[in-house]
Amino acid sequence: MNQYVTGAVIKELREKNKLTQFQLAEKLGVSDKTISKWETGKGYPDITLLEPIAEAFRISVTELISGNTIHNANVSANMLRSKFYVCPVCGNVIHSMGEAAINCHGILLAPLEAEPTDENHMVFIERLEDEYYVRIDHSMTKNHYISFVAAVSSNAMQMVKLYPEGNAEGHFKIRGVKRIYFYCNHDGLFSIDPVKGIDDRESGYDDSKERSKLEKAAGMLLGN
Ligand SMILES: [Fe+2]
Repeated sequence: MNQYVTGAVIKELREKNKLTQFQLAEKLGVSDKTISKWETGKGYPDITLLEPIAEAFRISVTELISGNTIHNANVSANMLRSKFYVCPVCGNVIHSMGEAAINCHGILLAPLEAEPTDENHMVFIERLEDEYYVRIDHSMTKNHYISFVAAVSSNAMQMVKLYPEGNAEGHFKIRGVKRIYFYCNHDGLFSIDPVKGIDDRESGYDDSKERSKLEKAAGMLLGN
């Protein structure tokens, strides 16, 4: 990782902590001119100062260097706050119960923001006994495919990994599932409330009723 603490990060953290350049300087035993130099990119703090700086801002040295401060009050409280990270180089998928600074292939991954489903990423959800059968209407070619589907409840996460040339579908235990996520390698993360997925024709819907109606009509026509 060729990253070091930047002036912008120091300034942001100092202001967030309501410290003047002078107050921070006093804490670190340097001059306020030195702080000003760091903040304007005219110099870097010596490596021996990283720990005292992190301490002054009440964060870890890793957070200081990555410029990515993490505030997790109670990580295990609710899985619905889950974050997904995908490495753009290798496609590695990481699930986190809260914020995290995650590196893969030397890249600091950002938590994915889920978009509502659109006409190119429609979801069909059916209830099959105690399971949701989730199918995404999408290509599964090597270049453009759905790489995972996940179902999240307040205390569980079920994930199905998908591969090109496979089917864009998964089965999930219904128990408490509040949100379905899926990831397209081109278009990013999408999410939908499974109830909406069943009832809303704009985002996708349960086609099992319609199918059984059609089957019945066909049966009548054929005299069965
Ligand atoms: Fe897509």
